Amino acid sequence: MTPSPEIERHADPEAEGLPALERHVDLEAASQRAAQLTARAAREAVAARGAFTLAVSGGSTPGRYFELLAGQDLPWAATHLFWVDERMVPPEDARSNYGAARGTLLARLPEPPAWVHRIKGEEADPARAAEIYRKELKAHFGGNGPPAFDCLHLGLGGDGHTASLFPGQPALGERTLWAVDVAYAGADPPVPRVSLTLPVLNAARLVFFLASGREKAALATDIAAGRRQDCPAALVRPEGRLLWILAG
Ligand code: 6PG
Repeated sequence: MTPSPEIERHADPEAEGLPALERHVDLEAASQRAAQLTARAAREAVAARGAFTLAVSGGSTPGRYFELLAGQDLPWAATHLFWVDERMVPPEDARSNYGAARGTLLARLPEPPAWVHRIKGEEADPARAAEIYRKELKAHFGGNGPPAFDCLHLGLGGDGHTASLFPGQPALGERTLWAVDVAYAGADPPVPRVSLTLPVLNAARLVFFLASGREKAALATDIAAGRRQDCPAALVRPEGRLLWILAG
């Protein structure tokens, strides 16, 4: 299904070497687009490789995306679900990214995913949680290079952060480890986190940002047009396809 006609697109972004950017009339339309895009990527991945790997982010924006994704025609039995990042709190905590997705996505699925690879937010030591997640990534993806997710959903912070890669923080500069702990207390919520690192984000076959609000739309448009190079989200230049899905 093609996106709603109200959207604004770059003129042929592929020709300009720019990522595609879509501005949808509201979060419902943007979330629907994200859900359909994810489902299509899943069907293509399973047809081509027999499995689908998806990594999702947290925050307040993706709730509706997750609900709509649960209703898509998607081969969940061949899908491995990972998280881009997690706050170091137990799943029952309202700040947990996994906990939020459990209610909006996992609880609504027609069948369980092949595997849910959550980050253990309940671990007392964030470095230990990162180590456990790295081992899980290695066990699933194998190989020596960064895991190449079939689809990776990212959010955008007002400071240009994405995942839990914040401006000026050490995790942003990590180029070897696939996931690291993040002690930065300047984030909201101000708790330690575990995050995938840039090499993994940039190894993905498809990365899409889902962001809502005029302020983030302006920031995203500047990043997508190459006018902002100085923030973490601008460093996301994946091997595969990059799409900005904006609401409002
Ligand atoms: C997190 C996220 C983070 C989020 C952005 C946008 O754990 O906080 O992964 O990167 O996607 O901060 O958050 P909102 O959707 O709440 O604006």
